Amino acid sequence: MANSLNWGLLSTARINRALIAPLQVSRRNHLLAVASRSQETADAYAKEKKIPRSHGSYESLLADPDIDVVYNSLPNHLHAEWTIKAVQAGKHVLCEKPLALSVEEVDAIKHAAHQHGRIVAEAFMYRHHPQTLKALDIVRSGSLGALKMIRGSFSFMLTREGDVRLNPDWGGGSIWDVGCYPISYARTVAGAEPVEVFGWQVEGPTGIDETFVGQMRFGGDIHAQFDSSFVIPFHAFMEIVGSDGALNVPHPFKPGADETIYLTRNDKTEAIRVRGGELYIGEVEDMADAILLGREPRVSLDDSRANVRVICALLESSRAAMPVRLERENF
Ligand SMILES: NC(=O)c1ccc[n+]([C@@H]2O[C@H](COP(=O)([O-])OP(=O)(O)OC[C@H]3O[C@@H](n4cnc5c(N)ncnc54)[C@H](OP(=O)(O)O)[C@@H]3O)[C@@H](O)[C@H]2O)c1
Repeated sequence: MANSLNWGLLSTARINRALIAPLQVSRRNHLLAVASRSQETADAYAKEKKIPRSHGSYESLLADPDIDVVYNSLPNHLHAEWTIKAVQAGKHVLCEKPLALSVEEVDAIKHAAHQHGRIVAEAFMYRHHPQTLKALDIVRSGSLGALKMIRGSFSFMLTREGDVRLNPDWGGGSIWDVGCYPISYARTVAGAEPVEVFGWQVEGPTGIDETFVGQMRFGGDIHAQFDSSFVIPFHAFMEIVGSDGALNVPHPFKPGADETIYLTRNDKTEAIRVRGGELYIGEVEDMADAILLGREPRVSLDDSRANVRVICALLESSRAAMPVRLERENF
């Protein structure tokens, strides 16, 4: 059995920068190739980033027999299509968030992955960071008492004209781009799926939600509130409140090497330091664990499906100006 994996980048997206360094230092992962819609772009990118091979089309990368894992960093509307094509070509796929834009697309990915025996995981890098694991430990240990409220936010100023996030037909909008993080965080902390959601959106000039404000009601009297925006300067946090205390996480989604989270109980606040590594190494090593060691990826397809389902329900609620109930599902 192979003990290392050759990776190929599907596109020259800006986010690739985050993965190139972890891939180039990893013992079990090797960055072998990049693909672009143009051979010229692929060649220049490969030269600049010291990537051994360049492919002038996405099809050509998928046909490369030496590639084991594809990193899908395409715009959101192409995630499902190219993840499925990659799986059908025998590749494992780490796909950027959101994995897809509908539950039906996630189901098609799941079906293809199952049929071809390949691993597909959504690149929610924050889920692998020691800070997130520590926050979950604190919640699960009962230190906060019974979980009551979860709040979170993720915003930044999107000023780049023509950015793919501004196109409503391409899965643009703040909830798909950054709202997906506090939603994912809240669902993970609650360890359950919401039974009802309510959302409001402020529509921007291109027809996407430039700001989204949402609420989720879980069973057992647990509620979550979040917001996301492209018109508020960078702002992110998570707060988890229970019957006996609260946990504040100032940098929940892009934590660094040295972080502090704050646990407040009985009017006393304890600062808890968490040493973390490079943020994006976790998702790369998790893929290697899944492919080489047969472990379940930390972000399962059922988990991604549930996140997509909640985002779709929130968007539906904001359009209808009504709460949307979610049927319980057995995954
Ligand atoms: N996890 C994170 O921290 C994080 C951060 C940022 C973004 N993301 C995700 O990563 C993905 C890419 O985001 P990005 O900002 O890096 O994208 P980007 O810089 O706009 O790049 C997207 C790439 O997709 C390719 N592409 C194929 N068809 C295209 C089309 N019709 N229009 C434009 N580009 C097209 C292009 O590559 P070629 O020209 O080489 O073919 C382009 O470079 C998104 O899904 C986003 O949600 C994740």
